[in-house]
Amino acid sequence: MISIKTLRELKKRNEKITVLTAYDASFTKHLEQAGVEVILVGDSLGMVMQGHESTMPVTVDDMVYHTKMVSRAREHALLIADLPYHSYLNKEDALKNAQRLMEEAGADMIKFEGGGEFVAIAAHLISNDIPVCGHLGLLPQSVVELGGYKVQGREKTAADKIIEDAQALKDVGVEMIVLECIPQQLAKRISEEVDVITIGIGAGVDCSGQVLVLYDLLGITPGKRPKFSKDFLAELESNKSITAAIEAYVKAVKNLEFPAEEHCFN
Ligand code: KIV
Repeated sequence: MISIKTLRELKKRNEKITVLTAYDASFTKHLEQAGVEVILVGDSLGMVMQGHESTMPVTVDDMVYHTKMVSRAREHALLIADLPYHSYLNKEDALKNAQRLMEEAGADMIKFEGGGEFVAIAAHLISNDIPVCGHLGLLPQSVVELGGYKVQGREKTAADKIIEDAQALKDVGVEMIVLECIPQQLAKRISEEVDVITIGIGAGVDCSGQVLVLYDLLGITPGKRPKFSKDFLAELESNKSITAAIEAYVKAVKNLEFPAEEHCFN
């Protein structure tokens, strides 16, 4: 089984960590077969599976339902589940909902978005033996406040705040942080200066690992794909199968070929 200790060792020997989303048992089996180290039951399921405009309508019951399906098929990978919108506004709700995702649904770790006031929530979960993954930069649950899905941390004050939040999360015991849509130089700085596992999505090649939404990687997502993603299935020259596309992603991340410059922001 992959543990946080395994991921720390990968980071220490500069081997990139591969993370992908899954929302059901069949895709989880493909991820396992391709050797993906971490599976994320992301609240992106609200957009790619449920057809909502944002992740905000996703409920804790939805996350428990999908995490259970993934958990049944998971063999080796570390399983992270997202706390959805408004499910961690105070310590009591955060703990109750995180415990459901761990105990009822089978997650190993819980992810939620934000620094600042949410650092105390992270500390509370960790003191109750719940491993926490942070999420900084573009926060899809705050898309209304952010005015859209835009790159974050381009100005110095915004960049400093993201670094400060990453350090504060680390200081209370957060072991892993997803960095979404931030300039690659900023992600590099955080990865070097904060002693934490960084997982990038639109954050450049210098993070400890990469994550993508599986539906983007397989070209399932209708319409325009985000700049930071890549349709690995479409780009296969032969043997076009789902497992081969996921294996191509794993290989590209491990060889530092993904993300390429065209998938990054400055
Ligand atoms: O919900 C999700 O799938 C995520 C990833 C995009 C990191 O949070």
